[in-house]
Amino acid sequence: MHDTAPILFFDSGVGGLSVVAPTVALLPTAGIVYVADSAGFPYGTKSEGEIAARVPALLGRLAERYRPRLIVIACNTASTIALGAVRAALDVPIVGTVPAIKPAAAISRTRTIGVLGTAATVRQPYVDDLVARFAADCTVLRYGSAALVEIAEAALAGEAPSPDAVATELAGLFGQPGGVRIDTIVNACTHFPLLEGDMTAVAPPGVAFVDGGPGIARRVAALTHGQAWPAVAPPARLVLTRLGERERAIAATLADRGFASAETL
Ligand code: DGL
Repeated sequence: MHDTAPILFFDSGVGGLSVVAPTVALLPTAGIVYVADSAGFPYGTKSEGEIAARVPALLGRLAERYRPRLIVIACNTASTIALGAVRAALDVPIVGTVPAIKPAAAISRTRTIGVLGTAATVRQPYVDDLVARFAADCTVLRYGSAALVEIAEAALAGEAPSPDAVATELAGLFGQPGGVRIDTIVNACTHFPLLEGDMTAVAPPGVAFVDGGPGIARRVAALTHGQAWPAVAPPARLVLTRLGERERAIAATLADRGFASAETL
């Protein structure tokens, strides 16, 4: 394993940055390739068939081109639908991102949890299974929000989130029967931790938000333990599958966060 071999993070858009941040905190000199499938964005409103056809093929091309030491599918939608197919197809360690229901169940005192993801994620049998294994004694309410994904993308492109729009989406959880008892929300879409401050500001006081980012970072560190890393972090690379106006605005924001270059696949 060459010390310059990068870790490749993959998402439909900017959401995976919420997984990059805790990973870089643990592995500060790791080479990072961040891929946003902007041509396929958004994933959350697509069918299982579309995601299953798109993601393994795209990751195959990306693995060929960037030769990563490990791939993080930093997207709950892609992971809950296509993780098995990607692992079967590629000869690279793959870490997926799945809803953090286990840590949420560990801290909920009201035993009522909200799972906030994309529509595609919250309907997956993968989520039913996580609930049955780790939160069987909890009431688990789910809500799929395409709007929050758009709000997070727009925020990275420079548009401040509207508190009313964020509150409307949270009402999708709190407005359900029994929803007022929710004390813990699983951010089951990697875009949503990017809005955690905005959500906390409009959520009932004391509601906790949990996401998979810190756990994934620990998993990446464990899987790469003992491998060689560069002495100094190389510039992070941003890869987009489409470079339109919004992507250019996002690339400009990310240039300030260490992604010196943006390239298209
Ligand atoms: N960030 C993605 C997730 O974690 C999906 C967002 C989207 O493209 O709808 O599910």
